[in-house]
Amino acid sequence: MPNTAPIVILGIESSCDETAAAVLVDGFLRSNVVASQEVHRQWGGVVPELAGRAHQENIVPVVGRALAGAGLTPADLTAVAFTQGPGLIGALLVGACFARSLAQALDVRLVAVDHVRAHVMAHLIVDGTERERPPFPFLNITVSGGHTQLVLVRSPLEMEVLGSTLDDAAGEAFDKGAKVLGLPYPGGPEVDRLARTGDGTRYRLPVPAVEGYDMSFSGIKTAFANLVRSRKDTLEQERADLAAALQEAILDHLLAKTRRLMREAGLKAVGVAGGVAANTRLRERLQALGAAEGWSVHIPPTAYCTDNAAMIAMAGHHLHQAGIWAGQDVVPVPRIA
Ligand code: KG4
Ligand code: ZN
Repeated sequence: MPNTAPIVILGIESSCDETAAAVLVDGFLRSNVVASQEVHRQWGGVVPELAGRAHQENIVPVVGRALAGAGLTPADLTAVAFTQGPGLIGALLVGACFARSLAQALDVRLVAVDHVRAHVMAHLIVDGTERERPPFPFLNITVSGGHTQLVLVRSPLEMEVLGSTLDDAAGEAFDKGAKVLGLPYPGGPEVDRLARTGDGTRYRLPVPAVEGYDMSFSGIKTAFANLVRSRKDTLEQERADLAAALQEAILDHLLAKTRRLMREAGLKAVGVAGGVAANTRLRERLQALGAAEGWSVHIPPTAYCTDNAAMIAMAGHHLHQAGIWAGQDVVPVPRIA
């Protein structure tokens, strides 16, 4: 008799400042819960110790809400997938320990998921809404507060990182630049909003010189800090123009590398994921570039771009199907090897 029981995956994300859980049934998203930790706002950045503590408080209710939202109980689970890394060690430990204990108690499979690869899964989440999914192979621009990669995606499990930042992540450049402008954390959305009323051609920041498909954002950050310092007497009037200059410099670098890789690899489909994919100007410029170059452009809903557990569950689903499981001795991996 073939086994026709549905495959039910619980995904758990706890790598940074979002505690999240999601449930997939046969690859279909049934619930997706995210608790964002507001406690960091007053400190102007994520405080690791506070993140760990907040995950401990959130994890049980968040998982409970995800199961209830799917109309299921723990006994229905086939496997528990969790973020193994990269991320903050104290934050990852909470998700890993919880997932291990739950899988052991229920006697179900445990699946360890790479958070950065999981960001690509934003494109593959099936939730009943219509959207065109990128055909394989495609290039994904993974851009968030902690990661910036150009990834060749051949299938849900076959990915190759062809370029990455050598220093700061793109989101970090937005956040640090925003801080210099006196904007609250996280600065990316603030820069996005302010830049809409600014003139991005007024100031030009230097273009980083990096070989191949790799990127570097720390030079932009330093040049921007110097520029802002030189304009400090007129900062109030110029803030929007400065925000636009920062945004254009980050996007110029990212999109120049993307175009070069797409052309040289002969690719026809490109996607973007990660928190920075919420950026209005990036969406606009990537669409325009795609139209000019003849690519299809894929931008998932923002809820799947910023840190979430639907992407972890989706990655977990594919790993489970391929028989790639973790043992009870699995430990978090805070950094990419
Ligand atoms: O993926 P994410 O939620 O968390 C990480 O894995 O880091 O990404 C957060 C990053 C932050 O740096 C935030 O400033 C940036 O994404 N971000 C944006 C926008 N919305 C979020 N950056 C630029 N424009 C936005 N609209
Ligand atoms: Zn992330």
